[in-house]
Amino acid sequence: MKIIRRKDELRALTRAWHRAGETIGVVPTMGALHAGHLSLVEAARAGTDRVIVTLFVNPRQFNSPADLARYPRTEDSDAEKLAPYGVEVLYVPDPDQVYPEGFATTVSVTGVSEGLCGAARPGHFDGVATVVTKLLLQTDADRAYFGEKDYQQLQVVRRLVADLDLKTDIVPCPTIRETDGLAMSSRNQRLDDRGRTMAPEILRVLESAAGAIAQGADPAQVLDVARDDLARAGFDAVDYLDLRGDPDLAPLTCYDRPARLFVAAALDGVRLIDNLPVPPRRG
Ligand code: PAF
Repeated sequence: MKIIRRKDELRALTRAWHRAGETIGVVPTMGALHAGHLSLVEAARAGTDRVIVTLFVNPRQFNSPADLARYPRTEDSDAEKLAPYGVEVLYVPDPDQVYPEGFATTVSVTGVSEGLCGAARPGHFDGVATVVTKLLLQTDADRAYFGEKDYQQLQVVRRLVADLDLKTDIVPCPTIRETDGLAMSSRNQRLDDRGRTMAPEILRVLESAAGAIAQGADPAQVLDVARDDLARAGFDAVDYLDLRGDPDLAPLTCYDRPARLFVAAALDGVRLIDNLPVPPRRG
């Protein structure tokens, strides 16, 4: 696996691959790789001829300098984790390759980026949309792989690709969970032992609420109960617990269409997110 830091060097390689008729699969990451990321790499390996993993801790998607400073930077161990997966390139762009002097463009997606994490983290999805656009263009990606754990991000990326006529196919991949059900996330490392024991409750609460709504219970009441359940399970703050239409993420007024239940809640200051589909009600 080659580590490349400059876009011109990457471009020379991607041009040669495309000239040879090969397809390029890209897995964008901010590093701190875990089994969730590696499942995206496996999907890319199975679906394309050449695989590029990008590693760039994107300052523009963090809401606070403290959160950015705390984000793990683990390039060496990330490269080691990728070694068995047949990745051709780990693209770790130098900051000026992504945001050159005078950079003044923002990709801003409306609609799907509003509410949920978009409301809780102002500017976050502008940062994501801008960097993902750049990374898809720099890598000349034919396919790019995104996890459903960040479901709102996935919809933001799909929207920008459609709206900007990018050629990349966006491939959604299922959330990978620990054996106790906790969705894998780089943030899980920041939980202490007590937090780690309590964290899987977030999935139990989601499952029970999604099941009750699918069976016809009143969503507003179910969500109230679920918020209380999260507080009882030890979560200190619930950013949101919300039912949205799928895939447009619009607030729901009737429940006869596919929906998804979203949660963001903090445990000892560590913000966890998760989501589950809610099938449409019958009849
Ligand atoms: O999901 C992530 O790790 C990041 O938001 C992404 C897509 C790599 C953009 O920085």
